[in-house]
Amino acid sequence: MIKVSYDADLQALHTFGLPVRAQALVTLTDKNQLKDILALPEYDAQQVLWLGGGSNILFCADYPGLVVRMANRGIQLMADDGDKVLVEAAAGENWHDFVQYTVAQGWSGLENLSLIPGTVGAAPVQNIGAYGVEVQSCIAAVHCFDLMTEQWVWLKADDCHFAYRDSIFKHAAGKRYVITSVQFALSRHFKPQLHYGDLEQKANELAQNQPLNAAIVAQAICDIRRHKLPDPRLLGNAGSFFKNPIVNAQAAAVLLEQNPHMPHYPQSDGRIKLAAGWLIDQCGLKGHQLGGAAVHDRQALVLVNKNQATAADVVALAQYICACVAKRFAVQLETEPVWLPQS
Ligand code: EPU
Repeated sequence: MIKVSYDADLQALHTFGLPVRAQALVTLTDKNQLKDILALPEYDAQQVLWLGGGSNILFCADYPGLVVRMANRGIQLMADDGDKVLVEAAAGENWHDFVQYTVAQGWSGLENLSLIPGTVGAAPVQNIGAYGVEVQSCIAAVHCFDLMTEQWVWLKADDCHFAYRDSIFKHAAGKRYVITSVQFALSRHFKPQLHYGDLEQKANELAQNQPLNAAIVAQAICDIRRHKLPDPRLLGNAGSFFKNPIVNAQAAAVLLEQNPHMPHYPQSDGRIKLAAGWLIDQCGLKGHQLGGAAVHDRQALVLVNKNQATAADVVALAQYICACVAKRFAVQLETEPVWLPQS
């Protein structure tokens, strides 16, 4: 039987570390426990929260329902043709540990996504991305339990509707699926993707004239991230707090005329992605603190739990930042983490 805890403390179960509680909490360690969970009197399809590492969540209040912590483990090599491998990892595997494992096997594809907090099962939800790579480029299929039909299904990458920090799983159409494992298609041949910022330079420094490989790139990414981004175990945060806004070419041209050094990234559809961190930084907000919540002092896109922040502190700080950026640049920022409970 699965053990239910009531009035459970969620502070250690999400990386922002806010003092919030769940009405009920269970931990899933085997996907076959799903049917037991659905039969619990505490289970309500409208209110249940399937929780991974809690690294992309902002709890604005106590959670008024059942929280299911996805903690099933297991990594399996499914196919290997000598060039490409297909590897399946359970949803509850730690993302970074899984990436390190793939790199140690000599498999390439995920190395640029090293050190992203969270679990394997959460990676497809927001299509995690960093240093020029999005996880969609390596996902072959996502194994899910369909709550509507109570059947197991495989969603192919195309069925997942991946986009920048987005997928079907973030929308109403995808709420029926509980992700239990993910299959990744990786390569035995290292394909460097080094075009982002100073990654190539850092990786070459580490390689010291040896040929580059995925493990060296992973190490370079870890070094860069450790320098810029706060470690959630030491300083609560949810990674990028805002998405990088995408504006039309005309709006970008106006902004570039006024701010010639503004970072901007043309997209394939003609629109331009801006760097939210730069916009916030230009408003002089790096380090800005409101109650216990603050803008990180090395990367303005990240909000941190500086001193026993409450959810209200974080909400007020986020609103203040949005207002400053809108006033100065006429750009509306959108938050990246999921705010819960949803009204
Ligand atoms: N910038 C500033 N000041 C800042 C922050 C950034 O001037 O305080 C400038 C940088 O100098 C650079 C540009 O803005 O010119 C972009 O900054 P950076 O390379 O640090 O990346 P980002 O756009 O701020 C995105 C992702 C990160 C990911 C990095 C690296 C989003 C929302 N964020 O950040 O993802 O690690 O690129 O690829 O797309 C996350 O999602 O949690 C996350 C950390």
